[in-house]
Amino acid sequence: MREAPFRVIALDTQLDRTTFCSGAEPLDSYFHRQVTQDIRRRITACFVALTPDQRVAGYYTLASASLLLADLPAAIGKKLPRSPSVPAIRMERLAVDQHFKGQGLGGALLADALDRAAATEIAAFALMVDAKDETAASFYVHHGFIALPDSPLASFLPLDTIRSTPRN
Ligand SMILES: CC(C)(COP(=O)(O)OP(=O)(O)OC[C@H]1O[C@@H](n2cnc3c(N)ncnc32)[C@H](O)[C@@H]1OP(=O)(O)O)[C@@H](O)C(=O)NCCC(=O)NCCS
Repeated sequence: MREAPFRVIALDTQLDRTTFCSGAEPLDSYFHRQVTQDIRRRITACFVALTPDQRVAGYYTLASASLLLADLPAAIGKKLPRSPSVPAIRMERLAVDQHFKGQGLGGALLADALDRAAATEIAAFALMVDAKDETAASFYVHHGFIALPDSPLASFLPLDTIRSTPRN
């Protein structure tokens, strides 16, 4: 990232979310109006990148999920146990404020999510994403995600490929 360093933390509900604008309306309105309620209900976890002056420059959300073996590429599915699905973590949303786009922050938030998912003591085979459109899907493929053969907007990255950083 070329600009001042960002700090990634779990969303603090005291932070001002109202000025955040990625330009993707559903992602912005979710962050403005819904995310804190979902956190309270333990439906999602949200992490934000903060500038040194506490401005939210980007956010992503994580939740538990499962990945159907039948949806995986055959070469990967055949190496997994013969159960209908394997545990996974879903990155449901990822958005960078327009002011900070193109500076590496989206990639850094994705790396942070992978690191966080790989560091958890609860087992998960992969981080999965459902991209909102083909442009977003190509962002994930650019970062090594594998598209599901029959749902090209959905992709995953096995977490055993991630060397996680210990978290305290
Ligand atoms: C997608 C998004 C998160 C990318 O964030 P960003 O900070 O602008 O992206 P970065 O600067 O971190 O880009 C990192 C790398 O991804 C590449 N990249 C960015 N968008 C890409 C795309 N749509 N397709 C392919 N590659 C892409 C960049 O070229 C860069 O490549 P490099 O590291 O090899 O130089 C941001 O544009 C955004 O918030 N979009 C609106 C919401 C959205 O589409 N979210 C996706 C989840 S549904």
